[in-house]
Amino acid sequence: MCAKQVKKPGEVPTTGHEWDGIREYDNPMPRWWLYTFYLCIIWGIGYTFFYPAWPLVSSATQGLWGTEVAGDTRLAVAAEIKRFDDANGPMKAKLVATDLTQITADPELDGYAKSAGAATFKTFCAQCHGAGAAGQAGGYPNLLDDDWLWGGDIEAIHTTITHGIRNTTDADARYSQMPAFGTDGLLEPAQIGEVVEYVLQISGQEHDATLAAAGATVFTDNCAACHMEDGSGDRAQGAPKLTDAVWLYGGDRATITETVTKARFGVMPNWNARLSEDQIRAVAVYVHGLGGGE
Ligand code: HEC
Ligand code: HEC
Repeated sequence: MCAKQVKKPGEVPTTGHEWDGIREYDNPMPRWWLYTFYLCIIWGIGYTFFYPAWPLVSSATQGLWGTEVAGDTRLAVAAEIKRFDDANGPMKAKLVATDLTQITADPELDGYAKSAGAATFKTFCAQCHGAGAAGQAGGYPNLLDDDWLWGGDIEAIHTTITHGIRNTTDADARYSQMPAFGTDGLLEPAQIGEVVEYVLQISGQEHDATLAAAGATVFTDNCAACHMEDGSGDRAQGAPKLTDAVWLYGGDRATITETVTKARFGVMPNWNARLSEDQIRAVAVYVHGLGGGE
């Protein structure tokens, strides 16, 4: 059965394998295919001589062309980064040494800080504050306007970024807590309804005047300690201004009712754990320069 069949003139020989009467032709490889195959082998062997290829105990052969020509890309990238770091070294040192309020006075330093800060912002801040720093619904403040929770001068912004807000990872984080007036039973639902109408009134929105009048008293007794008697807010406690159209969580009746009932607890990480001082200063200068800086 396995004997190679003898080729009759004009007939393709078979391999001699047979399965249930089915036999396999023994056609030769096409020449072009065979030569390409040999060429690949030669190329492959040559490649391993010229480029890093053969594994050794703790490294690999470097190849005849060495790292420059063959391009150890990882080393090349590391060298490139180091070159930029070295070039920026003096700038970074100056940024850290200069008084925060004096940085913008030096055009070169200011320019460096703003571009480095913009890059840091895109990487670390944009996911919460938005690529353009305009904030997001749900408690992520707009950093472009002059409405600041914790303060808009360069020192305040620097402190906020360094230590963060209401996190548990930095003992110096900014901290405050609005009471959950509904959930904790501090106010009756009716009183909450009244004070919400009052907040709608002082923020210039459509409201029920009778309820708002009663709400004014509720506000003085329960809210003024943080949001101030006139609703202008208190930066020492991160208590937002309630008299404008800028809202952290939302200014409609339903959202304000939810805020007063359950309270809010906006958290921002402390960046001193992840960024170097020059990065924090650069991003502080960038944020301060966005338009709302004081
Ligand atoms: C995980 C989300 C998150 C990230 C990331 C984040 N923030 Fe924030 N940030 C917040 C929240 C939430 C608040 C508001 C906290 C509050 O309610 O007081 C805030 C507040 C701020 C404030 C205070 C604004 C004010 O009105 O006083 C500044 C300044 C700020 N962030 C800058 C930054 C910078 C710069 C970065 C990047 C290095 C950053 N944030 C990254 C969530 C974030
Ligand atoms: C102990 C201080 C404190 C008291 C008292 C307090 N608040 Fe607040 N309130 C805050 C803080 C702090 C925030 C911001 C929370 C955050 O950033 O997550 C806030 C946020 C709010 C907001 C959200 C504003 C926005 O921009 O979305 C509203 C509305 C509000 N408070 C209304 C009230 C009312 C009404 C009362 C009284 C019934 C009250 N608060 C009492 C500290 C206080």
